[in-house]
Amino acid sequence: MSNPFFEWDDALYSVGNATIDKQHQVLLDILNRLHALIHDGDGIKNTTETAALMHELTKYIIEHFSYEENQMQASAYPAEKIERHRAEHDFLTAKVQAFERRLDNADPTVLEEMLPYLYGNWLIQHICISDMEYRPYIQS
Ligand SMILES: [Fe+2]
Ligand SMILES: [Fe+2]
Repeated sequence: MSNPFFEWDDALYSVGNATIDKQHQVLLDILNRLHALIHDGDGIKNTTETAALMHELTKYIIEHFSYEENQMQASAYPAEKIERHRAEHDFLTAKVQAFERRLDNADPTVLEEMLPYLYGNWLIQHICISDMEYRPYIQS
C-alpha cells in the first residue's frame, strides 16, 4: 500500500468541531481510495468501481455540505457569510457532479481533467479558508 494522497493534519485542518472534522476525514479518505483505485503503476485506469466511488464521494459531499449549512444556520454566523459559503458549496458540488456524470457516460477524456481537479487544492482550500471562518461560531 502506498501512502495516502491526502494526510489529515489536526493542526492544519481542524475546524474545532469533532463531527465536522470527522466528516472532513471521511472525504479525504474517499479521495484517497479513489486515487489508489485509479492509479495503476505509472498509468491510470478507469473501471466501473471508479464510477461507484465517485457516487460515494458526491453523496457524501452533499450530506456534509448540508450538515455544515445547518450548523451555520443554527449558530450566530452572519447570514451573508452563510450565503457565500453555501454558494461555494453549490459550485463545488456542481463541479464534482459534472465529473460523476461524465464517468457514468464513459467519457474517454474525463480522467485527464478530473484528476488534476480532484487532487488539486479545492477541498483543502475550502476547509482551510471557508470552513475555518466559522470556527469561532461552531465549536464542540
Ligand atoms: Fe467542510
Ligand atoms: Fe464548507
